[in-house]
Amino acid sequence: MIKIENASFGYDKEKKIIPGLSLHIREGEKVGLIGANGTGKSTLLKMLTGLVGHEGSIKVCGLEVEKKNLAEVRKSLGFVLQDSDSQLFMPTVYDDIACGPRNYGMSKEEVEACVDEALERTGISHLKYKENYKMSGGEKRMACIATILAMKPRIILMDEPSIALDPYNRRNLINNLNELPETKLIASHDLDMILDTCDRVILMNHGGIYADGPAEEILTNQQLLEECHLELPFCYQRR
Ligand SMILES: Nc1ncnc2c1ncn2[C@@H]1O[C@H](COP(=O)(O)OP(=O)(O)OP(=O)(O)O)[C@@H](O)[C@H]1O
Ligand SMILES: [Mg+2]
Repeated sequence: MIKIENASFGYDKEKKIIPGLSLHIREGEKVGLIGANGTGKSTLLKMLTGLVGHEGSIKVCGLEVEKKNLAEVRKSLGFVLQDSDSQLFMPTVYDDIACGPRNYGMSKEEVEACVDEALERTGISHLKYKENYKMSGGEKRMACIATILAMKPRIILMDEPSIALDPYNRRNLINNLNELPETKLIASHDLDMILDTCDRVILMNHGGIYADGPAEEILTNQQLLEECHLELPFCYQRR
């Protein structure tokens, strides 16, 4: 589903944030992307969606991520951005969630059904017509997640999805993620959430990928995590 071969990118010409990275993700894999602040997790997700460019090759569902394919590539990808305010650009929650289904050419009734299902799944049906600027941080987060669920993408990319969520909504997010069979790549510092939702973990450091393996193996390896300025998930920490 995702095939990255020797891809690199830097915001400045002199400094590559992502230096020659290769990575394959198969259909249905649930992959956690972890690493200290500034190691390039968000940048890598932006490279996959063509929001920033790259050298080397990135293929999504067999299509090279390049200008002429971007519209098609983005149809397969649902991307929850790290910053909710950058994602919600319509006046109301309804308009934002309806945007994807409308662009797919669905009828009015189909759009309505899609929006209602996404709102219900995320538990924010009561916010359907709320103006985006009047919502709390966690409510915005849920609305962003609902916009992606409504698009029913083949690949779900999420950047810090659990940020700002209360424990109930965080658990609901985890349950939702576990019910979705789609391929997932989730960047997060919430290592317990990654453990609950992913089978594979990619650990990034400032030189690219530092480790890649089964989630439980990486997330129980205290030394490895500490080498990368991380800690064991809370569930493995001794009180
Ligand atoms: N638009 C930008 N222009 C210049 N530098 C940027 C830009 N966005 C990010 N960077 C830099 O690129 C590096 C990687 O940033 P990125 O946001 O990908 O890290 P991250 O791993 O997602 O971090 P975090 O855990 O804090 O979300 C950082 O050093 C950051 O300062
Ligand atoms: Mg980030």
